Amino acid sequence: MQKSSPIKLSPAQALQGTRNVQLAESNMAPLMRIRERFTKEKPFKNLRIGMALHVTKETAVLVETLVAGGAKVAIASCNPLSTQDDVVAYLTKKGIATYAYKGESTKDYYRFIKNVIEFKPHITIDDGCDLVYEIHQHNAELIPQILGGCEETTTGVVRLKAMEKDGALKYPVVAVNDNKTKHLFDNYYGTGQSTWDGIIRATNLLIAGKTVVVAGYGSCGRGVALRAQGMGAHVIVTEVDAVRALQAHMDGYMVMPMNQAAPLGDVFITVTGDKHVIDEQHMKKMKSGAILANSGHFNSEINLDALEKMATAKKEIRPFMTEYTISNSKKLPNPKEGANLNKSAKVLYVLGEGRLINLAAAEGHPSEVMALSFCGQALAAEWIAKNQIPKRTLSNAVYTLPDSVDVTIAKTALTAFGVSIDTLTAEQKAYLSGWKEGT
Ligand SMILES: NC(=O)c1ccc[n+]([C@@H]2O[C@H](COP(=O)([O-])OP(=O)(O)OC[C@H]3O[C@@H](n4cnc5c(N)ncnc54)[C@H](O)[C@@H]3O)[C@@H](O)[C@H]2O)c1
Repeated sequence: MQKSSPIKLSPAQALQGTRNVQLAESNMAPLMRIRERFTKEKPFKNLRIGMALHVTKETAVLVETLVAGGAKVAIASCNPLSTQDDVVAYLTKKGIATYAYKGESTKDYYRFIKNVIEFKPHITIDDGCDLVYEIHQHNAELIPQILGGCEETTTGVVRLKAMEKDGALKYPVVAVNDNKTKHLFDNYYGTGQSTWDGIIRATNLLIAGKTVVVAGYGSCGRGVALRAQGMGAHVIVTEVDAVRALQAHMDGYMVMPMNQAAPLGDVFITVTGDKHVIDEQHMKKMKSGAILANSGHFNSEINLDALEKMATAKKEIRPFMTEYTISNSKKLPNPKEGANLNKSAKVLYVLGEGRLINLAAAEGHPSEVMALSFCGQALAAEWIAKNQIPKRTLSNAVYTLPDSVDVTIAKTALTAFGVSIDTLTAEQKAYLSGWKEGT
């Protein structure tokens, strides 16, 4: 087995990886259709694609789609806790330079991104903008050969737009997250389901009857709140955007500031892309036993440094579930032993070290939804190649793909799912584009 991953990879892992990737392929028909076309057309002939994405079975399907299109690919993870090691074994066995393992240190995380940069990519595919950032900060000499990049998530797009505004962005990037077939599906249905998958796997908690506080009512938060309500939770939403708060209110949720929600919640989930949304003042007000999880991109949404400082004891209850004792009471005699019997002590539980819980404790989004997002990635990479070769026509900006790409992805998905829809008649087309017909 090729040694691109620093972890010991067994043939058994590679076999499990093969089975998981095959399962993903069977649920990612739209992307497989693009793979068929790429196999014939080779849009990435002679191109190297460097990726920093969650190394999951679905990402492996994307990698192989790009390879089918003629690309050479190197991949690192975009989160220290999201890698599926069996998929690393599978990709490595396939000869793909794969730099990732689950639970990698911050040092390894950046070392692996550097490995991808040293591969000298012509196209970058990022989730969170760390690859683009590292190239701009430390390897600017490579930028002239880079045709463009693709960005997967909201937080990455926010960073890229800030770079563009500051004149710091030195090559064009497509905001794949802004495809309708991405954020209206991946963020909403994907995060909605997989966040709960992660929380339930980490805790085995009954959701019915619990008070769940969802911070952020964007594409992801709407999905997380909807699924919580579906499982019988009382849902509170916190927001800073008046329109979204109003929407949450009319969707039937209680809306209030985090300060008011803090003493009420049994489970808190941050999905804002913001920093310290749950801060010391909120944690102080929470009831004992409250569970804190994050599904936003970075582990900055819960102020873990403050929690570490407040805590008098900390222990791992089970994988991806850490108990912090934060009462003013004295230190427990031996935190390693048994349950916390100090009745005056207040405990808070943090899941998955505050990293996105759906990838830390579960497997990320289901394949069906990732098929749509990764059709967007594959078509964005092709769009960059088409617009930059032989002549560079794009500027150093953040691009949204034309609507026609969304329509293509949606139609391919509908066909794959066996769903047909109506088409406008000539009369309807004329009516919808006219202005003379009224009551
Ligand atoms: N877990 C996953 O698999 C996954 C998938 C997609 C996106 N994401 C990440 O989730 C985060 C949210 O993505 P999105 O697409 O929903 O973004 P969005 O911009 O649509 O929504 C974020 C919402 O959070 C609100 N917000 C910001 N600061 C807040 C605060 N202090 N308190 C309360 N609300 C606040 C904003 O007003 C906005 O409505 C991003 O970091 C994104 O990258 C994660």
